[in-house]
Amino acid sequence: MLKQNKSERAVFATKFAAIATTVGSAVGLGNIWRFPYEAGIHGGGAFLICYMVFVFLIGVPVLYSEFFVGRSARANIFGAYKKLAPGGQWQLAGYIGILASLLILSFYSVVAGWTVEYCISSALGQLDFSDTETGHGQFLNLTTGWRPVIWTVVFLFCNFFILIRGVTKGIEKASNILMPILFLLLVAFCINSFTLPGFKDGVSFLFSPDFSAITPGVLLGAMGQAFFSLSLGLGCMMTYASYFNKKTKLGRTAVTTAVLDSLVAVLAGVIIFPAVFSFGISPEAGPTLVFEVLPYIFSQLPGGAIWSTLFFLLLFLASLTSTVSMSEIGITFFCEEKKMSRSKSTILVSLIGLVGGLLCALSFGVMSDVTIFGMTFFNLFDYLSSNICLPVGGMICSIFVGWMIDKKFVKDQFNRSMNDASLGVRILLLFFRWICPAAIFLIFLNSIGII
Ligand code: PFF
Repeated sequence: MLKQNKSERAVFATKFAAIATTVGSAVGLGNIWRFPYEAGIHGGGAFLICYMVFVFLIGVPVLYSEFFVGRSARANIFGAYKKLAPGGQWQLAGYIGILASLLILSFYSVVAGWTVEYCISSALGQLDFSDTETGHGQFLNLTTGWRPVIWTVVFLFCNFFILIRGVTKGIEKASNILMPILFLLLVAFCINSFTLPGFKDGVSFLFSPDFSAITPGVLLGAMGQAFFSLSLGLGCMMTYASYFNKKTKLGRTAVTTAVLDSLVAVLAGVIIFPAVFSFGISPEAGPTLVFEVLPYIFSQLPGGAIWSTLFFLLLFLASLTSTVSMSEIGITFFCEEKKMSRSKSTILVSLIGLVGGLLCALSFGVMSDVTIFGMTFFNLFDYLSSNICLPVGGMICSIFVGWMIDKKFVKDQFNRSMNDASLGVRILLLFFRWICPAAIFLIFLNSIGII
């Protein structure tokens, strides 16, 4: 029977801190940059529906399973699997998680670097988006060549600075202050969307699904987006749950995280698509979509440069809480499994992120012709991590909790938040054992054309 480990590991002091931190990790560029562009490419409403189904039917149970493993073992992803199933090979999932976290850190830092660049350019009044041509030209100017390399380095340095200050102080303090500010700003921009001429078209693009648009690519993309957005499948939430205290309610924390996270994604959609239709930009623009669209919104507003600076500052801060969380995966691994000091582990993870980040940053410039499987480093890192590593990692965790953990122990943990848990536990186990693994597996088969 498993027992709660009474090690000296840090513990989040309050319930709010636990939720703020998981939401802080979940909400980031994934919601505000990646969701709109993925939805734009994959048909808007059809993608939104699939995404929501994946978030709540697969994402929430997998999130619960990660919380469960993390808090029970109070260790990083490797240590957790080793502790809960000694002698098994489950910790191999840890390698997938670490690989995914480093791949994501690499391309994520590049996009976060763009936000720093846009923030500073807006503050200096240097962004001119008076027409679509100038806007696009400016975007290319800011994101190709060597400039993004510099901003990627600047961003990674900020990330390093927060990490080196330690878990409870750095992450908790930052998330508690930043998340509510982020939310309020999004709501304000959303309200502004109502005034745009393309509001109706934008909203109907996002909310009226054309079911015939659901293809294997849409399903795989939506599943990848759900995992990416919830920071699932790579041990990030597992690592955070290792800092939860005994009283934290896992189910409630998982549902709250999923609701807030998808709410932010939908808000971002309501901000972006009306503007896309108002300013005649293609919703299928891809990764550049948000960076091409947003400045138009700001250019229409009184005091546009101030709004623009604020918004990109917000994006930068949201990215930071996310990269802090994904860096934790590697850092705790090197600290706890390889017995390195926290500062050395932090330096190592930051350096790996830097090398990967440079490859991704140059994918938009001098290395745009270098492709593997037809993808630039940027696209490859994104595809491999979001669409493959994360769902595989999530599937392993779900199977692990469903089949390897003593049912009584799962019930015990569940009972802490429910009075009569027997039906709840049975349903949960059904998801861990069958529904989540089967759904993920079928989507993989479907995407390679087997079914
Ligand atoms: N969930 C984050 C976002 O939506 O921006 C991205 C992310 C953070 C993915 C942390 C993975 C991770 F471990």
